[in-house]
Amino acid sequence: MALGVYASLAPKLLDPAELSGRLAVVIDALRASTVMVTALANGAARVMPCLDVAEARAAEAALPAGDVLSGGERGGLKIEGFDLGNSPAEYDGPGVAGKSIVFTTTNGTRALLRCRNAERVLIGSFVNRRSVVGAILDAGLPVHMVCAGTDGLLTAEDVLCAGAIAADVSARLGSEPDDDAAAIACEAWRSCAASGEPLPERLRRTRGGRSLVKLGLADDIDFTARLDHWNLVAEYFPSTGEVLAVRPAPHSVPYGRDQG
Ligand code: MLT
Repeated sequence: MALGVYASLAPKLLDPAELSGRLAVVIDALRASTVMVTALANGAARVMPCLDVAEARAAEAALPAGDVLSGGERGGLKIEGFDLGNSPAEYDGPGVAGKSIVFTTTNGTRALLRCRNAERVLIGSFVNRRSVVGAILDAGLPVHMVCAGTDGLLTAEDVLCAGAIAADVSARLGSEPDDDAAAIACEAWRSCAASGEPLPERLRRTRGGRSLVKLGLADDIDFTARLDHWNLVAEYFPSTGEVLAVRPAPHSVPYGRDQG
């Protein structure tokens, strides 16, 4: 069982030291988290998050050419010379199977790399919410939602996703979140769910959603909003710099079980 539910709703509100002894769940719902989970669900061998383009190119050059793909964005668009951008649909197919994906995005991979101090680090998204909830409950650690935001600022899409995970964990534990940030995220999610507004529509009204619509990438929002689509946990291992698929353990909360 998780031993407390906490959150940092924007990068500026995270002190990496407070992650010590905690399970961090890093969330960049639109779109880096969704891409990493989708790539691993499609059989990618690993995702290697890189801080910047130069680091990604160096990581790519160090691997055998046929085994690696480069992916990510700057300004929301594919980086010049990279194989793939930051649209989850690009990673939803056999082309990524068995590949190492060096991956750099503006906010998502940066947030992930700031969580090295945590006991464990999982990738959180709408598309694998239930699996993440199960892994949190199995881990027996305090859990800390880390929202990637945009340029250091809070974004509603990440807060909603943090709330979707935290509210489910809290419901299963029969307790309330342990700090106001997690409580605010849960309230945002519960109010979104109660409103009846379809999640893709709600996400279009967020900061990240508006940017994607402007770039002509609104389909990515629909993909991102596929709640509980993948039964997969993605875990970041700072010692090797890899994000790997960790299948839910047999004793995990059964996928698809109703909220308790
Ligand atoms: C990021 O890491 O900043 C986002 O994934 C940006 C995007 O959606 O392109």
